[in-house]
Amino acid sequence: MYIVHISSELAPVAKVGGLADVVFGLSRELEIRGNDVEIILPKYDCLWYGEIWGLDATYHDLWVPWGGGGVHCTVYFGMVHGRRCYFIEPHSHENYFNRGSFYGSPDDALRFAFFCKAAIEFLLKSGKRPTIIHCHDWQTGLVPVLLWEIYHRMGMHDQRVVYTIHNFQHQGVHGEPVLSGTGLHRPDYYFDRDRLGDDHNPKAINMMKGGIVYSSFVTTVSPKHAWEARYTDQGKGLGHTLSVHGGKFGGVLNGVDYEVWNPEIDRFLPHHYDVWHLDGKYANKEALRERLMLRKDYKPLIAYVGRLDHQKGLHLVRHAMFYALHRGSQFVLLGSSPDPGVNNEFWGLKHHLNDNPDIHIELGFNEQLAHLIYAGADMLVVPSVFEPCGLAQLIALRYGTVPIVRSVGGLADTVFDRDYAPMPFEYRNGYVFDNTDFSAVESAMDRAIGLWYEFPKEFRRLLSNGMVYDYSWNHPAHHYLAIYNHVKAW
Ligand code: GLC
Repeated sequence: MYIVHISSELAPVAKVGGLADVVFGLSRELEIRGNDVEIILPKYDCLWYGEIWGLDATYHDLWVPWGGGGVHCTVYFGMVHGRRCYFIEPHSHENYFNRGSFYGSPDDALRFAFFCKAAIEFLLKSGKRPTIIHCHDWQTGLVPVLLWEIYHRMGMHDQRVVYTIHNFQHQGVHGEPVLSGTGLHRPDYYFDRDRLGDDHNPKAINMMKGGIVYSSFVTTVSPKHAWEARYTDQGKGLGHTLSVHGGKFGGVLNGVDYEVWNPEIDRFLPHHYDVWHLDGKYANKEALRERLMLRKDYKPLIAYVGRLDHQKGLHLVRHAMFYALHRGSQFVLLGSSPDPGVNNEFWGLKHHLNDNPDIHIELGFNEQLAHLIYAGADMLVVPSVFEPCGLAQLIALRYGTVPIVRSVGGLADTVFDRDYAPMPFEYRNGYVFDNTDFSAVESAMDRAIGLWYEFPKEFRRLLSNGMVYDYSWNHPAHHYLAIYNHVKAW
């Protein structure tokens, strides 16, 4: 099958969050299964160019209708770790993709509306007719709208769109210029609440809503989150739309790339290990302590790895840090935030705790250290307020690091409480808590730390249970292929 992903992120060249990893991991797995997969991205100035092989202009004169006129674009082709990618570069004074960062400009909605238009125009003009166009998040929500309302009649009648929502928090809500720019026009028609009209702001259109209404199938990244988005406030205003389109909406759990995240072959680890040979894990714990100058002591090591975003339950992350120390454990945090306020707060904490030999706070992005932390830690806390899927707990499981998670979204679908999950012991793989108050995270941490100190053999059994789960892309790829087959034109 010929599948084209249209996305604003791809790991490792354009990565802000988990979306980048998903587009890479899913494309790779689909290709392994014999499908023809291409990825269309903006040609940002801040792409990680060192990771693109053979980048070359392949299409010089793409003329994209925009507003009253048009924008001349060049399309580049390049390989990203084996993936076939097209990068669109517009030449206009707006410099849409030369902003030094992926997101965060006041005209983001217009930048990505333009990207939608340019990507589909590129497919049209280059004669590419994929069976499936797979779009992701609000940035590409207009693709199915444009396809159905305009390009359908121009020879693209057999293309079907699958739309995956990784995060309902950002929906691409903007005014009329998005319509006039892309050539959709007809504000009366599109501002209708059954089409793109935003439910909160009657003067705005909602690009994610467009993606939901116009796609052949809509997914989010775990079954539990699909339910939460539809029936709770986690849909951030789109619950009604999801219910109206409930027959074409579902959750597909993400996978992890086990080529990259695998303690048996991980190139960043000083010691390799597997479920039968756990000594390497403990050697990595010592290596981690040495690297971060933590004291060597008979104590469990608890970690947090991830973005420092409010979504992640920062008040609980902070509390878990101090509670770990209080309960005779060590703590390592690796993360960063685009929000200067949050960053300053964690710099303050780092400063305050600098002399404590049981804790280390590393602010920033450090891939190598992330691998060593997943391998060396005994437990990982993920106390998210909401979590569509979450990657950290899946990696932790693979590395024999016991996840302690809040029972939301993908966390609830992948981590099963050692003491309370309604299933045989060998399927239980971590600790789960429900509420967002301090006592909730404390009680789960107490149970984990208690087991580590008092029943070390049982703790080993628990982490071994987690290591043999298969959270690779194997199952998700099957699932997506079933969806593609379900919606493709006959
Ligand atoms: C977003 C979500 C995260 C998910 C990722 C990939 O970053 O917040 O939960 O794992 O997308 O789908």
